[in-house]
Amino acid sequence: APLKDVEGMHPASIGNIVYRNVELGPCTAVAAVELLKETGVSLAGLEVTVIGQQFLWTFKYPEANVTSRGTLVLPANRTVSLNITSTDVIHAVHIPELGLKQDAVPGQYNRLQTTPTSQGTYQLYCAEFCGTGHSQMTATVKVVSYDEYQQWLEDQQESQQ
Ligand code: CUA
Repeated sequence: APLKDVEGMHPASIGNIVYRNVELGPCTAVAAVELLKETGVSLAGLEVTVIGQQFLWTFKYPEANVTSRGTLVLPANRTVSLNITSTDVIHAVHIPELGLKQDAVPGQYNRLQTTPTSQGTYQLYCAEFCGTGHSQMTATVKVVSYDEYQQWLEDQQESQQ
């Protein structure tokens, strides 16, 4: 099956799929409710908008009202949906070490779901030639513990107020 092949190729992440329709099983739903009680954050609800523009990547966390330029921070072992778009020409998100690749197309949102399992720092590249700054159109992806992720979000909220 294609999903198994993807998992086999990319040990730093599991379950990378192009989002179509995710159904939570009963166990996941219970875990999500428990986490919601503890932290106020839904396990299934992490959504990040990824915006490509010549020649920069911007990451928006709508639930936290945070915008980050050039750095994507994700909690390990949590499922995240990346909603990928562009403000100008076609770009492409490529994070080889996480096995993620998806086009960033103006006027549409391409959804990519992943659950990174290994904490670390990874490089995001633009994989579609988009102009003179294409090869410099990179970003840093940091997969951190859930506590570090929460702290980072709080720091961003303070610095953006
Ligand atoms: Cu953006 Cu190449």
